[in-house]
Amino acid sequence: MRVLIVENEAEVARAAAEQVADVIRRGRGAGRAAVLGVATGSSPLGIYHELAAQVRGDRLDTAGVSAFALDEYVGLDAGHPESYHSVIRRTVTEPLRLDPARVHVPNGTAADLEAECRAYERAIRGAGGIDLQLLGIGSNGHVGFNEPVSSFASRTRLKTLAPQTRADNARFFESPEQVPVHCVTQGLGTILEADRLLLVAHGTAKADAVARMIEGPLTSMCPASVLQLHPEATVIVDREAAAEL
Ligand code: GLP
Repeated sequence: MRVLIVENEAEVARAAAEQVADVIRRGRGAGRAAVLGVATGSSPLGIYHELAAQVRGDRLDTAGVSAFALDEYVGLDAGHPESYHSVIRRTVTEPLRLDPARVHVPNGTAADLEAECRAYERAIRGAGGIDLQLLGIGSNGHVGFNEPVSSFASRTRLKTLAPQTRADNARFFESPEQVPVHCVTQGLGTILEADRLLLVAHGTAKADAVARMIEGPLTSMCPASVLQLHPEATVIVDREAAAEL
C-alpha cells in the first residue's frame, strides 16, 4: 500500500485527481476508454471538482469513459435528491461530461434485489473490470457500504447499514429516521478486483479509521484493512486524517 500524506483537503484532491486524470488519459490501450469506479460521500468531491475544471478547460477528454458506483440506498428512487443515482449524476456524470448511458449505479428499488446485485456484477465484468476504483472511508472503517464484519470475499449484495453510518449520513436527510436502513453495495471481493484502488480521506474524524486501515491487523472489523491485500492500492490523506499513524 502506498500512503501519501499531504497538507490539507485541497492537496488530497489535487494529488488524487492527478492519478485519476492519468488513468483517463491513458485509457485501456487499443483506443478503449477507461472504466472508473466512483464513490459518493464528501471525501471525493474535491477530486471531481478538479477533474471537472480540466474537462471545462479542454485539458481532459472523458469521451467514452464509463463509471460504476460502489453502492446505493435501498428504497430511494433514482429521482430522490439523496439517492446515489442523483448524487453521482450531480457530482460526477454532469460535471465530468460523461455519457449517462455509461454511468452505472445499482438499482435500490429493483423488485428482485438479489437479481439486481448479480446483474451489477455481470455489468462490471462485461465492461472488462474497473481500471481505477476511488474510495472514501467511513468513520467505522467501511468502504462502499461494507460495514464491519463484511467478508473479504463478499460480492455485490444487500446490506443493513450500521447505526454509526446512519448517524453519519443523517446530515443529508431532513431527519435521522429518513436515512434508509438497507443498501446495495459492491462487495469487498468485487472492489479488490479493480486494477488499482485509490482511497482518500481528510479531517480528524477519519484519523482512527485511517490508522486501523493502514497499521491495524487485517480484520473484517475494519473492512478498509482489505486494502492491505491489494498490490496497487494508494491512500492519500491530509495531516489531520494521518494524525494517528
Ligand atoms: C458513505 C459512502 C461511502 C463513503 C463514506 C464516507 O456512506 N457509502 O462510499 O466513502 O460513507 O463518507 P464521507 O466521505 O462523506 O465521509
